[in-house]
Amino acid sequence: MARTIAILGGTGPEGSGLAARLARAGEHIVIGSREALRAQETAQQLRAGLGGGAQIDGAENAAAVAQCQIAVLTLPFSGQAPLLKQLKSVWKPGTIVIDTTVPLAATVGGSPTRMIGVWQGSAAEAAAELLPAGVSIAAAFHNLSAELLAGDAPVDCDVLVCSDDEDAKKVAMELAVKIPGVRALNGGKLENARIVESVTALLIGLNIRYKVHSAGVRFTGLPAK
Ligand SMILES: NC(=O)c1ccc[n+]([C@@H]2O[C@H](COP(=O)([O-])OP(=O)(O)OC[C@H]3O[C@@H](n4cnc5c(N)ncnc54)[C@H](OP(=O)(O)O)[C@@H]3O)[C@@H](O)[C@H]2O)c1
Repeated sequence: MARTIAILGGTGPEGSGLAARLARAGEHIVIGSREALRAQETAQQLRAGLGGGAQIDGAENAAAVAQCQIAVLTLPFSGQAPLLKQLKSVWKPGTIVIDTTVPLAATVGGSPTRMIGVWQGSAAEAAAELLPAGVSIAAAFHNLSAELLAGDAPVDCDVLVCSDDEDAKKVAMELAVKIPGVRALNGGKLENARIVESVTALLIGLNIRYKVHSAGVRFTGLPAK
């Protein structure tokens, strides 16, 4: 059976960008939203943009989770814990969660170039605490901007994937390389997400100072693939 990837908060630019890229690579996507209608509208717009054959549906977040094998979290940090608490009884064992959340101070009215201190160390580790047993988590895509994901040009970025679960890490790395131009790198344990998340604040500052929207990360001295 073909797998389904739910993208929670997929009505925003990061989730929509990931949805379009992964649908273009042949994945079946369900956009998740707090409002089913908004999710369906975004799905319809993405399908129209991609043309025939793109498999993108829309559903309320919990309904999207109920039908997925992989769920990508693409919503602001301020909404992460409330949503995960709401979803606690919905997850199926074996589901893989991929967290893109950057706990930027902007999420609570502060600067987009500063981070919020998260007691657990990172947004991904905070999310891990709110998932039931049997649901694994990888952190990925933090340094890949929505501006780069929009459109179909190859991106020029490494995607660091951090997880304590080898299967979740493998799946996230396999999905990342479906985006043309991405090299997926094994970022080690989930605790390293605190480093990767904070690089995004630095990238946003670089975008502002250099008046671009395209800052990303490339590591040197590693295998090309
Ligand atoms: N934008 C980027 O370039 C970028 C790059 C890397 C990582 N990220 C991370 O990806 C995530 C999404 O970024 P974004 O720019 O797409 O964010 P966004 O536009 O602010 O939000 C995405 C979606 O999240 C939902 N949402 C908003 N507040 C919520 C709440 N309190 N509870 C539940 N759902 C809520 C909304 O969907 P509904 O109203 O339809 O529910 C919204 O369309 C963030 O954590 C960000 O740090 C973003």
